[in-house]
Amino acid sequence: MSDHQEGLLPSELIGLKRDGHELSEAQLRVLVEGMLGGDVSEAQIAALLMAGVLNGFTVAEAKALTAILWDSGETLDLSSLSGPTIDKHSTGGVGDGTTLLVAPLVAAAGGQMVKLSGRGLGHTGGTLDKLESIPGINVSLEPQRMLDIAERVGCVVAAQTDRLVPADRTLYALRDLTGTVESTALIASSVMSKKLAAGASTIVLDVKAGDGAFMPDAAAAEELARLCVQIAQDAGRRCAALVTDMEQPLGRRIGNATEVAEAISLLRAPPSGRLAEVALELATLALTEARPQAGGHDPSGSVRSELVRHWERGDAMERLERMIAAQGGAAEVCTDPAAILPSAPVEREVVATAGGTVGAMPARQIGEIVARLGAGRKRKGDVIDPAVGVDLDVAVGDRVEAGQRLALVHARSADDAQRAVNGMQEAITLGGASPRDVICSRVLLG
Ligand code: URA
Repeated sequence: MSDHQEGLLPSELIGLKRDGHELSEAQLRVLVEGMLGGDVSEAQIAALLMAGVLNGFTVAEAKALTAILWDSGETLDLSSLSGPTIDKHSTGGVGDGTTLLVAPLVAAAGGQMVKLSGRGLGHTGGTLDKLESIPGINVSLEPQRMLDIAERVGCVVAAQTDRLVPADRTLYALRDLTGTVESTALIASSVMSKKLAAGASTIVLDVKAGDGAFMPDAAAAEELARLCVQIAQDAGRRCAALVTDMEQPLGRRIGNATEVAEAISLLRAPPSGRLAEVALELATLALTEARPQAGGHDPSGSVRSELVRHWERGDAMERLERMIAAQGGAAEVCTDPAAILPSAPVEREVVATAGGTVGAMPARQIGEIVARLGAGRKRKGDVIDPAVGVDLDVAVGDRVEAGQRLALVHARSADDAQRAVNGMQEAITLGGASPRDVICSRVLLG
């Protein structure tokens, strides 16, 4: 900071950002910590955010913001765990049950994952909601309990407490109100401050690109992925990212209980399909990063083969079962999901009205249909229905005949079911499009 810029008022710092200057970490700290202490108003932070979104935040500003947010609360100390500690983050999608596969897979291969997850909001699902469809499961765990389960089982999935990165919650709420969520630097600092505070030495990221994602196109998603990886590596963590397709739902089931059932059925058979592919690739990236001798690369495919072996032998299934039991849940869900998971009273089929090739299954639209059935929230704190959802029989690129079932709707009432059937009929369109590869790109820096 040059001498003449020391001691500037918040309004003067905002003016600098308005005029296209880069703010130093100390200057950003004055503003963000001032907001937390009540010396800087929300109106001033809103102005800063908008100035930053319009003029762009630099990489240095993104790193500084990450550090400031990370410093604002408690952190998890994983140093007592014996294995390599691995964390995973997805920027959020539809039918995205990867955590339920990656966590037990990493555990089966000797890693330890303490995964702090979130709840669904809008059209995207959340891992905690999915897990809570298992009777008895507890996702509100104190740090020591998380560490005990991670040490014993290799994985644990729990809710982030309000004490971790509290500044992000305040800032995110303001971004939400002021149309400033969609900024690469702000998203990266928000995501990475929470990942850094969660303590793992290796972090893998799944940045979604497409209709159902924050980042509609793959180039923007890759830019976000690169910035997140840079931030983590700068903070001394191992980190790599995948950019994956979210033009259509990732898995074949969308909803809470139904996504748990899908994860269990996938882990019971050799890995196949787009969801399994993303999970395997994320676990492969995580373990190659976590094993320093591999230098972040798996050119011979040996890590992936090891993970496929764990998957096929049922080791990952066993870890999931043990994790559910350790968190107080009905572990029999892993042997008989239909008997344990809640089911909705009404089922309706979505049927093709003509033959052809499935050209589009827009993830956002389908996520919204499922949220309206009751599986998602309009507002934070809304109660969700774990039993409702949609099971897809087809994916983009599949040939279908007239009269063929395209999807099955699980609903609470006949009216809800009919509305969802109509919505799905409109959402699934026929055309010649071929599907995008599920893995768009890999970001391995340094
Ligand atoms: N997820 C986050 O945690 N923060 C953002 O800013 C966007 C998505």
